[in-house]
Amino acid sequence: MEFSIKSGSPEKQRSACVVVGVFEPRKLTLPAELIDNAARGYLSDIIRRGDMEGKLGSTLLLHNVPGTLCDRVLLVGLGKEKEFREKEYCSALRAAVKTLNETGSFDGVVFLTETGVKRRDVGWRIRQAALVAQETVYRFDRFKSKKDEVRRPLRKLTFAVERRNELAPAEEALAQGLAIADGVSFAKNLGNLPGNVCTPTYLAEQALEMSKDLGLECQVLERADLETLGMGALLSVARGSHQPPKFIVLQHKGADASQKPVVLVGKGITFDTGGISLKPAPEMDEMKYDMCGAASVLGTIRAAAMMKLPINLVALVPASENMPGGAASKPGDIVTSLSGQTVEILNTDAEGRLVLCDALTYAERFEPEVVVDVATLTGACVIALGHVASGLFANNETLARELLTSGEEAFDRAWHMPLWDDYQEQLKSPFADMANIGGRAAGSITAACFLSRFTKKYDWAHLDIAGTAWKSGADKGATGRPVPLLAHFLLKRAGKID
Ligand code: BES
Ligand code: MN
Ligand code: ZN
Repeated sequence: MEFSIKSGSPEKQRSACVVVGVFEPRKLTLPAELIDNAARGYLSDIIRRGDMEGKLGSTLLLHNVPGTLCDRVLLVGLGKEKEFREKEYCSALRAAVKTLNETGSFDGVVFLTETGVKRRDVGWRIRQAALVAQETVYRFDRFKSKKDEVRRPLRKLTFAVERRNELAPAEEALAQGLAIADGVSFAKNLGNLPGNVCTPTYLAEQALEMSKDLGLECQVLERADLETLGMGALLSVARGSHQPPKFIVLQHKGADASQKPVVLVGKGITFDTGGISLKPAPEMDEMKYDMCGAASVLGTIRAAAMMKLPINLVALVPASENMPGGAASKPGDIVTSLSGQTVEILNTDAEGRLVLCDALTYAERFEPEVVVDVATLTGACVIALGHVASGLFANNETLARELLTSGEEAFDRAWHMPLWDDYQEQLKSPFADMANIGGRAAGSITAACFLSRFTKKYDWAHLDIAGTAWKSGADKGATGRPVPLLAHFLLKRAGKID
């Protein structure tokens, strides 16, 4: 889809459809009023008759509105003006794009982007509009023989801004929004692919291809390399699988080499059966999503490269399957991690922390400014926070706050969880330096505590996205989270937004 920015009067737009908002109850927004004036009260008549109350997300498509140059006018309900916030703004836009896409409008000029949202500037509104639009038209039908064809799909969207002096910042925000949306789609596609397609090898190929497209540096470490390095924890997870593990290193060098990089680490378990500690059958298919941390890290570096952010960024992906093959690790096995610390594997299903700990140690060699890992790490995090917020853990308060704020602003929220030493005891092992599980209590915290033992040398945060990376049920699918949060975090670090 093509996108552009414009400032102008709604009644003068030559387009297949002009989209304007109506507040509840029955209050026209300014652009709607302009059309109403040109149409000599046509809209207010309709509203008076009760055909459009302004309920959030409701739509009414009008043809041949007098006094306008467009084929159609789409009225979109915004809900009550007093309650109009980020969420309402996004819902209204979603309804608009969905309707445009389903009704055969080839292009549309959207004036909803002129509606103010408390505490958010025009840049935010445009970035978010681009994201919501791409999100609404997203489909994953690669494996459907018959695609659900949209009759005449939307090709071009124009977002309106009120003043001419908003054009430049809006253009920049649009480019950012589209880059982030691209990163989100990229992450969703990888997540939605089945485990027999999206293997560690496939992930590595995708990273290589992306590095060529966007001028990134890419290196893929093979099993032999991991053995030489001594990544015993990662290797122990890969033992049960016929698919070889891969360790992906992607670099975006957007700043002077003297500038320390942000390192992102993503859990890349392309399928998690649980290993010898086998998972139960129901919903096990969803464990194809166990590489969503990796997907989001790749999606984020993609967005950052597309935005040409003047920062140095490294993405690390330890990729493996977790399978119960004959050579698989067994409960009680002890392995030596890259850090030299030994781990007693009491449960082979706690494999995420095993692949991550070696990647976190590997991160040291980049002398990072900060390290953020992203992982579908624990079912316990879903119990704690549901599907609304990602779990955030950090060994540095400032970094934690920075990420929390980014989540709020990008509308991709996280919640700060404790990482107190008191929880570390649960990881005691009689035979090794630590066990890989800490019992049922505080499962997401003890998992983070495990990781914290490998992140002593830098500022570090961990995002547990087990509840936010995908949706189950009727609209099953990857969400692309937390690409918006991470991209926002990087935009701020790069000084592109306040
Ligand atoms: N990938 C899972 C975590 C998960 C489970 C995410 C369900 C989303 C939904 C992870 O590898 C895992 O199996 N964790 C175990 C840890 C336990 C054995 C300590 C879990 O959460 O049950
Ligand atoms: Mn597992
Ligand atoms: Zn897992």
